[in-house]
Amino acid sequence: MGCPPASSATCAALRFLAAALQAKAVVEIGTGTGVSGLSLLRGMAPDGVLTSIDVDPEHQAVAKRAFSDAGVAPGRARLIMGRGVDVLPRLTDGGYDLMFADAAKADYLTYYAQGVRLLRPGGVLAFDDVNAAADPARRDVESTALRDVAKLVREDDRLVPLLLPTGDGLLVAAKI
Ligand SMILES: C[S@@+](CC[C@H](N)C(=O)[O-])C[C@H]1O[C@@H](n2cnc3c(N)ncnc32)[C@H](O)[C@@H]1O
Repeated sequence: MGCPPASSATCAALRFLAAALQAKAVVEIGTGTGVSGLSLLRGMAPDGVLTSIDVDPEHQAVAKRAFSDAGVAPGRARLIMGRGVDVLPRLTDGGYDLMFADAAKADYLTYYAQGVRLLRPGGVLAFDDVNAAADPARRDVESTALRDVAKLVREDDRLVPLLLPTGDGLLVAAKI
């Protein structure tokens, strides 16, 4: 459907993070067909709610079916159609244990700023595909945004960062 799912190693890392945090509230940007969402839901507390944002209603319809087929209770997945940059500002300050960004790399700077606001202390930000920008010769908007976010996260003294070599690079950062 033109939305490559998170890799199986990245999904394992997401499930691990959600379980370690005993996450009750997770926000994801880039529902896709629900592959990463299902891993997050499997790691979260049994009554935890995943808020997942995507611009494409067809992708979200497939994800909704995948969650239902996997036995996820309907109230555990809140699917919001829209652009991450428009939806994230409407979400509650400090209300989330974990944020996973896997959409619109050019908007990662907004996801970072909003993510720091949305996380509770001890919560974790996760940005997928950050190694896609590793080559400094790449000057396109997406690569530049990924490099900028990686630098901001590294230098932000509110965050403790770690780059995991899963998929195309999963940058995680705990909010202290
Ligand atoms: C790489 S796929 C996500 C895959 C998903 N995380 C998974 O593992 O199944 C990227 C998704 O981001 C969505 N998307 C693209 N631009 C977006 C934006 N500005 N805001 C929210 N979602 C967006 C696409 O429709 C697509 O479904």
